[in-house]
Amino acid sequence: MASTTPSTQPDVRAAQLAAIAAAAGTPCYVYDARAIRGAYATLDRAFDGYPHAIHYALKANSTLAVVRLLHSLGSNADANSLGEVDVAMRCGFRPDQVVFTGVGKSAAEIDRAVSLGLLAINVESPGELDRIDQRAIAQGVKTRVALRVNPDIDAKSHPHISTGLKSNKFGVPIGEALALFREMSSRRGLQPVGAHVHIGSQITTLDPLQKAAQAVVALAQSLRHDNIHLQHLDMGGGLGISYDGAPVVDPAEYVRALVAATKSSGLKVAIEPGRVLVGPAGVLLTKVVDVKQFPGAKRFVVVDAGMTELMRPALYNAYHRIEPLARRDAAESIVDIVGPICESTDAYARDRAFPQVEVDDLLVVADVGAYGAAMGHTYLRRPLPPEVMIDGDQWRIIRRRQTLDELLALETE
Ligand code: LLP
Repeated sequence: MASTTPSTQPDVRAAQLAAIAAAAGTPCYVYDARAIRGAYATLDRAFDGYPHAIHYALKANSTLAVVRLLHSLGSNADANSLGEVDVAMRCGFRPDQVVFTGVGKSAAEIDRAVSLGLLAINVESPGELDRIDQRAIAQGVKTRVALRVNPDIDAKSHPHISTGLKSNKFGVPIGEALALFREMSSRRGLQPVGAHVHIGSQITTLDPLQKAAQAVVALAQSLRHDNIHLQHLDMGGGLGISYDGAPVVDPAEYVRALVAATKSSGLKVAIEPGRVLVGPAGVLLTKVVDVKQFPGAKRFVVVDAGMTELMRPALYNAYHRIEPLARRDAAESIVDIVGPICESTDAYARDRAFPQVEVDDLLVVADVGAYGAAMGHTYLRRPLPPEVMIDGDQWRIIRRRQTLDELLALETE
């Protein structure tokens, strides 16, 4: 019989979460280190020896202990701001393990990115190409760059998180890539090392990801005729997870498809997963603070977490499974699960069949390890919640709850 780890036995797991809620208070994020290790290993193994690099997209969750865990597994890092570049380095990444992507890099960001000697700066436009070159020349260095191409492929994801259409602001049209690579290789301050594509996030079908990969491989092949030889093809992130139980792309199958598309070129494949690595590893613990019934109309379960802690439902109408930590023996009714924020969009679930709950019951919001805490904010002067890392039967607080004094520390009266 397969052995079951303590954290996967439902009652042991529930007891652990209850203990965490009692010690750290609610709302509180909880991540499972084992789940992160497992997700990383699944991707890594699926390359089956083909040259590759996994660049963890810090934007999904850049809490230090999470980033450090990914570093310990052998990951590289994808940073989207200088803050994320610095967090990556604090967590042990060398500059040559960090890629810096981002539309609209400021002069200060370019200057520092060049001075660090990163693995690559992903160039987003002809103007940016020029600015990076100038700063590299001024610093007397040749800086490694990759070109982010926009392949005009529909990722068929939520429009707010699609990035690969020509109506999106990201990258350069793939038709201009050849000319821009020629330009880059003629510049004194630039060393083109890669091509980069990222068409969106929470992508649940293989086809667009495969097409984007094929487009980048074809580009690399035509660059060879121009004697421009890249070192890596960065296929971006974007792999979706199943928030609601609907089928998604199997991560190993995704990797195998990328390898199949790239093999003929022999080039190293880089991927930038965020969500698939940390999303399913996180839950948000929240407590019921009120239950109210409008006669003949809605029933509301009001919880102590809201759009300040978890933006995704308000921002993308995103679905997250929610369950009471301890189920009462009662029939389900249709409820809205709402937060305490004074915005009508502050709801985690609408018209959802839900077991009966009472004030002070704990609820578990699932699959919030990615873009949960990382997108949290302090609207209504709500201090940021704590974060906890579970590892087997051990757990520790990896970010304590912010105090109001800390929240106000930057201000003067
Ligand atoms: N690489 C680049 C250049 C990206 O822009 C992103 C995500 C990733 C990698 C990682 O994508 P992932 O593997 O996590 O899909 N806040 C939204 C998601 C925004 C994604 C932004 N870019 C959400 O909560 O769904």
